[in-house]
Amino acid sequence: MGKNLIFHGADVPALAEKYGTPLYVVSIDDIRQRCAELRESFTEKYENTVAAFACKAFQTLEMIKLIQEEGLSLDIVSGGELYAALKAGFDPKHIGFHGNAKTARELVEALEAGVGTIIVDNYSELELINRLAMERGICQGILLRVTPGVDSHTHQYIATGNLDSKFGFSVPEIKKTVFEQVSEMKALDMKGFHYHVGSQLMENNSHIMATGIILDLLANLRVRFGYVPRELNCGGGFGIRYADYPERSAVSTFMDPVMDMINSFYNETGDPRPTVIIEPGRWIVGEAGITVYEVCSVKTNAAGRHYAGIDGGLSDNPRTALYDAKYEVAAAGKMDQPWDIKTTVAGKCCESGDIIAYDVMLPEMEIGDYLAVYSTGAYNYSMAGNYNRLPRPAVVMIENGEDHLSVRRETYEDMVEREYL
Ligand code: LLP
Repeated sequence: MGKNLIFHGADVPALAEKYGTPLYVVSIDDIRQRCAELRESFTEKYENTVAAFACKAFQTLEMIKLIQEEGLSLDIVSGGELYAALKAGFDPKHIGFHGNAKTARELVEALEAGVGTIIVDNYSELELINRLAMERGICQGILLRVTPGVDSHTHQYIATGNLDSKFGFSVPEIKKTVFEQVSEMKALDMKGFHYHVGSQLMENNSHIMATGIILDLLANLRVRFGYVPRELNCGGGFGIRYADYPERSAVSTFMDPVMDMINSFYNETGDPRPTVIIEPGRWIVGEAGITVYEVCSVKTNAAGRHYAGIDGGLSDNPRTALYDAKYEVAAAGKMDQPWDIKTTVAGKCCESGDIIAYDVMLPEMEIGDYLAVYSTGAYNYSMAGNYNRLPRPAVVMIENGEDHLSVRRETYEDMVEREYL
């Protein structure tokens, strides 16, 4: 018996014994700590600001409740996320609804629920919301999503601010036609603008460039139409620690320069400054989660690569295969043994690309050992699937060293329940 990994006060192998593997373990203390840091470095530091949680990163009923307790707003992207948010009791006034291809049904659900803000992506959506809101006698608060046309240093699949992105309106389009068209749409309350430049960013240059571009747009609309927005949403994207990123970025690295730019713009114009909103997802929950696996095979292949095969894989964590993510891995029950064997942690799905971590240093792994993969709190549970009919893992939350089941493990029966014979 080796020394066990303790994660936020919880004995990881003991959790694996109690709940089975693969297992997502998420620390409530860590999430609360991040929310406190958001207050300290943003919402309490600057007046008239709001932090929202982009719940695509990790959405469970318990998480939504936690976010509401912490006083954050919520950013959603689908009718399903809206349904869960309402079910957990989240106040719809503090929900922002995103998406480049919202269905009419989803829009009706949002309008009828009283969602505070719909972030509109394109002209066809503007016309659709205006008609649906008009039919219901609603005046819907909206933001226009702007594609600022900046490149950000991240994986191309999670960069969103470049001109060829599928998201948002271009600046010339807004200046030329869209702004005036929206002003004519009587069922829409045009509260302001939104931009989001990408995810897992470590440097603030794309936020700064995008803010400059948006402020130029605002200056233009002010001169031509006397328009002063009430809200400006700067998106999320703040990076966290993974094996190839040594530490979590500070929100102030991004938002201090952005706030300086926005504040000096409004000091100059003398107009009231709009409410500034941010919507991080990964930064709030990414490092709060680990995934625990059991080793179920060990081998060295003909090329000399040494593998530990685990009881999960891209079905519960597609991020290595999709974004070339690099994870830190711990031998959860052998923390005191020498970590001197270069090991590739292979998932169990029938895909050569189903590798969770290439060439990490571990003690000698044996069948039945536990492995913990760090920084899997964001975009793992929410992106999990049933490829190869693997049931989705359970989620256990820990608070003050105590554990409780937050989402039960999927069963084989769950997976065939909706199928007809
Ligand atoms: N706001 C908008 C409009 C977004 O599209 C996103 C993320 C966020 C906020 C939150 O971004 P965050 O703070 O979490 O970086 N599945 C990918 C990440 C996709 C991000 C999509 N949009 C991954 O696993 O890396």
